[in-house]
Amino acid sequence: MNAPVNTAVNPIGIHDITFATGHHSFALETLAAKHGIDVGKFHKGIGQEVMSQPAADEDIVTMAATAAKRIIDRNGTDGIRTLLFATESGVDQSKSAGVYVHGLLGLPSRVRTIEMKQACYSGVGALQVALGIVARNPQEKVLVVASDVARYDLNSGGEPTQGAAAAAFLVQANPGILAVEPASGVYTYDVQDFWRPNDRHTALVDGKLSIDAYLNAVRGAYDDFIDHGGADFAAIDRFCYHQPFTKMAVKAHMALREHVGLSADKAETAAELETTMHYNRMIGNSYTASVFLALMSLLETESDNLVGKRVGILSYGSGAVAEFFTGTIVDGYQKLLHADEHKKALDSREPLTYDAYRDLHPGTRVADITDYDTPEVTDAPFRFAGVKDHSRIYQRR
Ligand code: CAA
Repeated sequence: MNAPVNTAVNPIGIHDITFATGHHSFALETLAAKHGIDVGKFHKGIGQEVMSQPAADEDIVTMAATAAKRIIDRNGTDGIRTLLFATESGVDQSKSAGVYVHGLLGLPSRVRTIEMKQACYSGVGALQVALGIVARNPQEKVLVVASDVARYDLNSGGEPTQGAAAAAFLVQANPGILAVEPASGVYTYDVQDFWRPNDRHTALVDGKLSIDAYLNAVRGAYDDFIDHGGADFAAIDRFCYHQPFTKMAVKAHMALREHVGLSADKAETAAELETTMHYNRMIGNSYTASVFLALMSLLETESDNLVGKRVGILSYGSGAVAEFFTGTIVDGYQKLLHADEHKKALDSREPLTYDAYRDLHPGTRVADITDYDTPEVTDAPFRFAGVKDHSRIYQRR
């Protein structure tokens, strides 16, 4: 067995973490009924109940700013010199979505701001960059936001896995929630399983290939993790996976168990991961934010017994890049959770009818570039007011 990695000296990791989601919800029961599909396929087959949908005046920027505001309101801006914005569904080819968030939050100008992209992986990519920055200067903090609207074509296999959410977290020395251990396993290989060309609102996907690619990447990243001194499988207490749909996490964990020579019963594996799946089941795929929603679900569902536990975290971004790493839960983490705000965000979503959901969906048309105003719908602190002279307009409320 490998020796557990020592994080007693200068731990660095996640100090505070929260999420925001879209104004609307859309029940998969409605989609199933309208499409003549047995709802069991969605609820049990892929493990999804509801998808979040942004209002017409919301996007990745407004959701990210809403989540990040909660972090800033609690922690202030002292020490934050970097803002990393991870997303698959960027709103501009040049300007970082993070710069809009920086402006909306009124952050100091002495901050470097960058957008990062590699499908669903870049949230964990941003976390690793942040850890490196803080390791070099432990006085600094990094604000990371991972925000996405997952959209597939109407009537496609991916449609029931859509969703929307933004995770925001603060990376710093002596973190209050998760001390990230140094060992990490990475894996990149070129595969065309899921991608979104520049002129499309919706992703293209080869569903079956994407599942195989994900499983292949789990094994590859884990092997690299072990080769780089990572903790033994048996020394990892909980596992959080990227969840494009929650059943994917079950497939991934079964594959990993088999890979390390253990049996992999489906029901037992699902039960083992259950506490990580609440938010993703009720929100849908949020691409870069998904694995952090899994972590928040775990922390809030098991809020009384995780201190000192080691969590294995697996991020997968199609195309494909994966990373597996571990962290330990810090004593007192319960005091930093935002469970009440998260419950409110989910419970207060305004349900969409089937027709309203279809009206909001951009379909397969190319991106809008002409001037338009959006209707005032969201009650979030920030809104996307429309496009003027090819520029996106954001408002504080
Ligand atoms: N009751 C219970 N279960 C049922 C059922 C019913 N009535 N009907 C079907 N099922 C089960 C099936 O047996 C199947 O289970 P298994 O996977 O255990 O075999 C499951 O429901 C799904 O059924 P199908 O495979 O027939 O579904 P599908 O052909 O419509 O496609 C999908 C499923 C490929 C995942 C599709 O939703 C898709 O393309 N999703 C988008 C791509 C995706 O999420 N890929 C994941 C890896 S890529 C990634 O992780 C990056 C990312 O975020 C996109």
